[in-house]
Amino acid sequence: MDRNRVIIFDTTLRDGEQSPGASMNQDEKLRIALALEDMGVDVIEAGFPIASNGDFVAVEAIARVVKNSVVCGLARATRGDIERCAEAIRPAARGRIHTFISTSPLHMKYKLQMEPETVLARVSDSVALARTLTDDVEWSAEDGSRTEPDFLCRCVEAAIKAGAKTINIPDTVGYSVPDEYAGLIALLINRVPNIDQAILSVHCHNDLGLAVANSLAAVAAGARQIECTINGLGERAGNAAMEEVVMALRTRADRLPYQTGIRTEAITRISRLVSTITGFSVQPNKAIVGKNAFAHESGIHQDGVLKNAQTYEIMTPDSVGLVRSSLVMGKHSGRAAFRAKLRDLGYDLPDGAVEDAFVRFKDLADRKKDVFDEDIVALVDDAVVRG
Ligand code: KIV
Ligand code: ZN
Repeated sequence: MDRNRVIIFDTTLRDGEQSPGASMNQDEKLRIALALEDMGVDVIEAGFPIASNGDFVAVEAIARVVKNSVVCGLARATRGDIERCAEAIRPAARGRIHTFISTSPLHMKYKLQMEPETVLARVSDSVALARTLTDDVEWSAEDGSRTEPDFLCRCVEAAIKAGAKTINIPDTVGYSVPDEYAGLIALLINRVPNIDQAILSVHCHNDLGLAVANSLAAVAAGARQIECTINGLGERAGNAAMEEVVMALRTRADRLPYQTGIRTEAITRISRLVSTITGFSVQPNKAIVGKNAFAHESGIHQDGVLKNAQTYEIMTPDSVGLVRSSLVMGKHSGRAAFRAKLRDLGYDLPDGAVEDAFVRFKDLADRKKDVFDEDIVALVDDAVVRG
């Protein structure tokens, strides 16, 4: 694979589903999985098979129908989890077992109540067991970013030795800042002797709003897989948003010369699909997929965009599958946008009628927050009748 190719690992159906209230049924998961495959996602984490019978059945159903993406299931570092996961992904054309254990002092002491050496032995045993069931094994150091670096290096080395092909270093609680997280990736690359036998992966949570920045910094430091979700869905404040990661790499290829296999034109559609299925609406000012991400309300901006869209748009709307940017008509809108809107609505009016309608539009916009197309149609029809 090209050295600058970044693998996109989508976990909308697993970590995304862990958002309180975001559960999906099997049919909904299948629809999302097929849309992820269609947009070119490399790895789909379809669920956590041991978690429930519903999860198992959904992962198995996805494994049966998805052909072009790797289908992955999550498993803790226990025989029961790993065997159940292997069973669920068995029908997949390409299946992956993703097994994890916590490695930070806090998690080992309080959550696992295990000594570091016992955890280390469990890393080797769990990965080795998973490798007897599939060739493609990913190992994650849960709370990796808060793990003591020497111990993390030993765990990573042991996981690779036991057969893991992907090593994931989660920022489980979204605590890292970009240069620190990139430094951890660089440290692993420099210190783990067998690191070149595995792909380094990152999995960032958004508790401080840094998940995307941390993921990109880690790629610049040498990571080549990003774990992310559609609309940034996920535990607490969510995971790195796939649409943001992918569009940052596409738009700033000058500074971030890494490619993904994602067909970005599918982004808007899948964002809406996930939002409709989960009932989680996307905030209007959300980067890339928010309703206002390509909308211009101020007259100065609207005028600029009509003359040359690049004045206020760093990506084209069609690059994310939006038909066009929308001119939102409100009290800040100017004549140029008003004329463009009239053209969109099918009007070809003499200057006097346009001016008359524009004056009355401004008057209406002062009283009404959103001026809809129907309002403008009413104004214009009235102007024409009176004209
Ligand atoms: O955030 C996390 O650490 C996880 C792991 C299970 C990969 O989701
Ligand atoms: Zn996570």
